Amino acid sequence: MNIVVVGAQWGDEGKGKLIDILSKDSDITVRYQGGNNAGHTVVVGKQVYVFHLIPSAILHKGKTCVIGNGAVIDPKALLDEIAGLKKRKIEVTSRKLKISGLAHVVMPYHRILDGLRESKRKNKIGTTGRGIGPCYADKVTRCGIRMVDLLNPRILKEKLEDNLREKNEIFSKVYGQHDFAFGDIYKEYLGYGQQLKAYVCDAALFLNREIDRKQSVLFEGAQGTFLDIDFGTYPFVTSSNSIVGGASSGTGVPPTKIDKVIACVKAYTTRVGEGPFPSEFADRLKDEIRNKGQEFGATTGRPRRCGWFDAVLVRYSVILNGISELAVMKLDVLDDLPKLKICTAYRHRGKIYKDFPMDFEVLNRAEPIYEELDGWQTATNGIRKFQALPPNARRYVDRVEELVGARIKYISIGSKRDEIIVR
Ligand code: IMO
Ligand code: MG
Repeated sequence: MNIVVVGAQWGDEGKGKLIDILSKDSDITVRYQGGNNAGHTVVVGKQVYVFHLIPSAILHKGKTCVIGNGAVIDPKALLDEIAGLKKRKIEVTSRKLKISGLAHVVMPYHRILDGLRESKRKNKIGTTGRGIGPCYADKVTRCGIRMVDLLNPRILKEKLEDNLREKNEIFSKVYGQHDFAFGDIYKEYLGYGQQLKAYVCDAALFLNREIDRKQSVLFEGAQGTFLDIDFGTYPFVTSSNSIVGGASSGTGVPPTKIDKVIACVKAYTTRVGEGPFPSEFADRLKDEIRNKGQEFGATTGRPRRCGWFDAVLVRYSVILNGISELAVMKLDVLDDLPKLKICTAYRHRGKIYKDFPMDFEVLNRAEPIYEELDGWQTATNGIRKFQALPPNARRYVDRVEELVGARIKYISIGSKRDEIIVR
């Protein structure tokens, strides 16, 4: 069974935890888009692991992790992550980790450009500053440098020279910044190539051949549906396809080989960075939920914006991702609330929107229409069976299921591995 896990909101839905659980039953886990802008947290006993590029399945013995061609790789960040895992006695051999030679490489000028572009924008996106956008831009402009290029000194030299010629002009003439010296970057990145060489392969061939011999693959989505470059709240999005469609183009595994899509949703909504967020809380609740849910970015440490569950968003996610099953995460964070709201539609200039609006102004000014439900005001952390949840918690879950049109199979009620209800 080949399964894709996607985020159905704006990222940080708790994909790390679900993937950690599901990857136990998969032979291979593959990342298909994004870079170290992602931050996936897994709690094992007292140990907390935060992953940015490597699939969290690396924690399981005998499993293979792959970083697909659709991801962008900052080699320095990847090497740091590998070193951090090795220090904690997690094995990262070339049998356990494979990297697509076609994945694009984040260069120092991408990181700098990320910050400079933000500084010039009127409406800031609030990027993670990891160079993700500029790296994907170079991929599409056809001047990007790929992992396989780091293994060929001649090609790397040519490409880097070409890039620096153009970039240095932009840096000095547009941004009044210093030049990048060829020699330093060239040496640095050749070095990264040598250190990562053992992991680099044709990941598409590897994955397809493994699938042909009946190995199961779990596709680990990063970010979320509304950060998708096409379907998200553009331009306040990331630069890749985080919806299920990205799993195919980002790995070379055809859609015909994908059996199932599971989406993670938070029992409420959060977003990091700027952009529209119709069901955002007013300040008091924002602090309460942020503290209870530990809603601080795993990558940048920024406080996340928090709000009520938005069924308009998730309904659209269900359609775009062909979601077979939903996992509702962090339900326990809502344990104390006397009343809960679910956004069921938007209102703008007297018009009701039941579907996610394309027009940015509508979305930005949309006033949420809420349905109110009673809270359960009981701790749910210890519960392992759906029937044992307080009736109002079950009602909340059932109502979400009804409104978004997909079956809720998993309900997470805490950060630990075993704090999950499987229906
Ligand atoms: P995971 O995988 C939440 C957001 C940034 C910013 C926008 C663009 O942990 O769910 P970028 O650096 O990608 O160009 O920033 O996207 N963003 C995320 N928000 N979770 C993530 O990943 C994110 N990755 C990017 O905050 O608003
Ligand atoms: Mg995250």
